[in-house]
Amino acid sequence: MKIRPVRGTHDLFGEEIKKFNIIKNIVSKIAKLNSFNEFQSPIFEFTDLFLKPLGEHSDVVLKEMYTFKDRNDEQLTLRPEYTTPMIRGAITNNLLNDLPQKLYGLGPMFRRERPQKGRYRQFNQINFEIFGTDDYLADFELIFIANEILKSLLPNNNFELHLNSLGSKLNLTKYKSVLSKYFQDKKRFLTNESKEKIYSNPLRILDSKYNEDQEVCDLAPRINEYLDQDLKNHFERLKKALNLCNIKYKENHKLVRGLDYYCSTVFEFKTNDIGSQNTLLGGGRYDGLIGALGGPNIPGIGWAAGVERVSMLMDQSININNSLVHVALMDEKYKDHLINLINYLNKNSIEYFWNFKYNLKKSLSKASEDKIKYIIIIGEDEFINNSYTIKNLLNGKQSQKRLDEIKNYLNDKS
Ligand code: HAM
Repeated sequence: MKIRPVRGTHDLFGEEIKKFNIIKNIVSKIAKLNSFNEFQSPIFEFTDLFLKPLGEHSDVVLKEMYTFKDRNDEQLTLRPEYTTPMIRGAITNNLLNDLPQKLYGLGPMFRRERPQKGRYRQFNQINFEIFGTDDYLADFELIFIANEILKSLLPNNNFELHLNSLGSKLNLTKYKSVLSKYFQDKKRFLTNESKEKIYSNPLRILDSKYNEDQEVCDLAPRINEYLDQDLKNHFERLKKALNLCNIKYKENHKLVRGLDYYCSTVFEFKTNDIGSQNTLLGGGRYDGLIGALGGPNIPGIGWAAGVERVSMLMDQSININNSLVHVALMDEKYKDHLINLINYLNKNSIEYFWNFKYNLKKSLSKASEDKIKYIIIIGEDEFINNSYTIKNLLNGKQSQKRLDEIKNYLNDKS
């Protein structure tokens, strides 16, 4: 039998792992700048944690959870998202005694979706959450941070912020029943997929990808006609704050999000550059969720971004560092000379590459293929003189240096 990876999973190596690490570094830098503390949860939890909050009629719960029975018959699920595990963790570690809590994390999630470009069964999410405030500035801060992270990683700005407000939980329930009645009347024009959601999840018809459905949705009652005044004000203030920072957005009254726990502000950053899986980042308020999970009755808001989708958009404008020098050893006789060099390069934090090939020609062509600036050559001459030849592959110049001169030479010339 031929070994193969599980469908919808992928290995990270080469340029991909470099981009992954750049993403991780930028996320932790911006999190620190804004006083968000890192929180890592286990990758599996009791299944019950996800069932109700994500919505018993949501795709994630109905079709996508990796659920299994443990040996003692407990039902466990690989986390399909980060928000509920973070809330569980904040409750069980007593973090909610000190509010508000600002937490972030980055790690693997699992959903049994049909794999395609930008959609995997194991993927990584960046996640930011604020627990314990209904201030519109929390909405602003989270969207601002999302924008900062995406701007740093995607300097070509090929993404767009969509915004909507779903109103309070109570209003949302009223709106759902109005919407359901509207769709019942128009049932004959809807696709079968949407017909199935008329009673269970009418909101999700609004973001259907089919044109037939969209024509019906265009004339559907709009959520903003059902917003309570204080949430209308909340939304207006948020938009003003975004304007103040010149963060462009598009109001999208059909933006409803796929998980059940949302209310009030919801948002997504979308792109046109990676095909149909075009949402890079999504989130919103989930007032009531923390209480429903057994915590205090406090509001919360957050977002998650798909690392793989962001990575697909990253290009050469992000500086992916290769090592600074290659080492070429012309004969096995000079191995001790190489050992001294490796020791020196490590002590001085100089990144190098060496591939166990005792052949100058091969080393030179590998270095130019990797676009490396310097090659350090060790041959008979260098061995006799107790020195190293450093060749600058950009301008062809070379010079012999003692070990303790290498660092300054590279610094001066780079
Ligand atoms: P979500 O919209 O389900 O929200 O996922 C957030 C992001 O994760 C998506 O926009 C996408 O970039 C990425 N993503 C989701 N599924 C996949 C997949 N199968 N393959 C690759 N990337 C994927 C949430 O998960 C919420 N917990 C976000 C949130 C946090 N809301 C409040 N706080």
